[in-house]
Amino acid sequence: MTRRTMVINGAGGSLGGALAAHFAADPQTDLVLSDVSQAALDATLAGLPSGGGSVEALVADVGDFDQVEAVIARAVERFGGVDALISNAGILSPNGRIHNLQTEDWERAFRVNVLGAVNGIKATVPVMRAQQAGTIVLTASVSGLTAWSHAAPYCATKAAVIQLGKVAAVEYARDGIRVNCVCPGTFESAIHAELPPAALDSIAAKHPLGLGAVADLVGAYDYLAGPASGWTTGTALVVDGGYSAP
Ligand SMILES: NC(=O)c1ccc[n+]([C@@H]2O[C@H](COP(=O)([O-])OP(=O)(O)OC[C@H]3O[C@@H](n4cnc5c(N)ncnc54)[C@H](O)[C@@H]3O)[C@@H](O)[C@H]2O)c1
Repeated sequence: MTRRTMVINGAGGSLGGALAAHFAADPQTDLVLSDVSQAALDATLAGLPSGGGSVEALVADVGDFDQVEAVIARAVERFGGVDALISNAGILSPNGRIHNLQTEDWERAFRVNVLGAVNGIKATVPVMRAQQAGTIVLTASVSGLTAWSHAAPYCATKAAVIQLGKVAAVEYARDGIRVNCVCPGTFESAIHAELPPAALDSIAAKHPLGLGAVADLVGAYDYLAGPASGWTTGTALVVDGGYSAP
């Protein structure tokens, strides 16, 4: 593995923190971590292993292009480029059927989940095109492939992320840029903090292998962000404990 620079957003969250810790252990990887929450970012930084590459951390809202562009600019300024972007920030939508949801619920979900992914691609592609190399890994969900009642904005935005990744893969293949997507099933995470435990139990029951943990997802990102996936682009890699198999 040659030296690389990786940007991870939503790095203060459960999965983002686990990904940051995993890649921070690699002495050949320099990291630029971002999150909308300084406190969440600080918690991730406190848990990083020592002995890896350098780490920069910035507060940035993925829904704001200028802030996303500033993160990428910092990566270029400090490390000379961006080899991998992991777009991980995401939010759940309020629990409700479509006729009970508000316009703001849709706007919020699209701003973070879809526009966040778009902004990451838009800010990173010019750097990767200049390098004629790079890999982008988007975070969708198995909810972008299957229908979840009472979660239309989440399902619709994650379906949009999958399609965004496919289009970007086709648009930028000739520039040496690969774009892929991970579609996790439900794993234990802070994103479910407001769900009643009974709701999580019934979701768990629909996963043949039970609920996942962040450690169950890391390998998929490692693969898609690294050279082993060099001939893989435009894919939506499902890692869901068998949820979508039946
Ligand atoms: N947990 C699951 O079961 C599950 C399943 C499928 C997909 N996912 C997806 O995985 C990703 C990570 O989720 P998680 O479970 O670790 O959730 P999490 O809530 O623990 O982490 C999400 C992180 O994103 C950050 N964030 C939210 N809005 C942001 C914004 N506008 N700009 C920048 N950062 C922002 C939050 O501060 C948080 O640190 C999300 O995209 C989520 O939709 C999660």
